[in-house]
Amino acid sequence: MKALLCGKGGSGKSTLTALIARSLSDRGCNVLVIDNDESNFGLHRQIGLDLPDDLLNFLGGKKKLVEKMMEAFPKGERPTIFEHKWEIQTIPEGYVSKKGNISLMAVGKIHEFGEGCACPMGVLAKQLIQNIDLGEDDFILVDTEAGIEHFGRGVEEGCDVLFMVVDPSYESIRLSEKISKLADNAGKQLYYILNRAEGASREILSCGVPEERVISTVPIHESIFKAGLLGYEFQASVPEVGMIADFLIGHKSK
Ligand SMILES: Nc1ncnc2c1ncn2[C@@H]1O[C@H](COP(=O)(O)OP(=O)(O)OP(=O)(O)O)[C@@H](O)[C@H]1O
Ligand SMILES: [Mg+2]
Repeated sequence: MKALLCGKGGSGKSTLTALIARSLSDRGCNVLVIDNDESNFGLHRQIGLDLPDDLLNFLGGKKKLVEKMMEAFPKGERPTIFEHKWEIQTIPEGYVSKKGNISLMAVGKIHEFGEGCACPMGVLAKQLIQNIDLGEDDFILVDTEAGIEHFGRGVEEGCDVLFMVVDPSYESIRLSEKISKLADNAGKQLYYILNRAEGASREILSCGVPEERVISTVPIHESIFKAGLLGYEFQASVPEVGMIADFLIGHKSK
């Protein structure tokens, strides 16, 4: 089962990715987290892992990938990036960090001034997700950058399910309408996670998105907030996130 988390900036995508990974791992599943945010550097700490080398470097760097893209696109082809299929256990060393049954990969980060746009990362993420074969108890969770550019790049193509994280803001509710249309275009199932939703804001959010598509409502947790502020690994398991893990496990063969 391959799931992607998307949503507005700061809505809680990375936090929930890390927490869902932990919940799935607690339930005995193998989880590969794909960090597909070229800007932020915090996710690995929330999972308690080192940041692996950019997968982009496995291919010889961004320039090399851009050359492949320039060769393939005018012919209407997709660039050949992977020679053969991978499994979670066979991802090349150095490009994955592991602890217990959680693994982490990073598609590529922006490191240098003027190095160029992040489009190659999108092309690579799209193919990476499709290139990994999963076993019965394996899951992939993709954490994305804020907004909807990854839809434009087609990163969702290889995913089975999409989760939009909706935080208490007008922007998030409006964005949920756009993402619903984009998910439809992509032929993907979209579900919502209402995050930091309590009291009146919970009510407003519940009216803003289709109720039957909301799989969990996560309140403000002091422990999450503190770990997020200090860059610590999440220690506590969160019951509302356990529901999301159960949802994924329940839907893996559907
Ligand atoms: N349920 C929660 N309770 C308390 N704090 C939370 C909760 N969810 C997220 N946060 C905090 O909100 C902030 C934003 O969360 P996070 O970085 O996960 O968002 P994001 O959507 O990944 O942001 P970006 O778009 O920058 O990648 C963090 O400081 C995080 O600790
Ligand atoms: Mg993030």
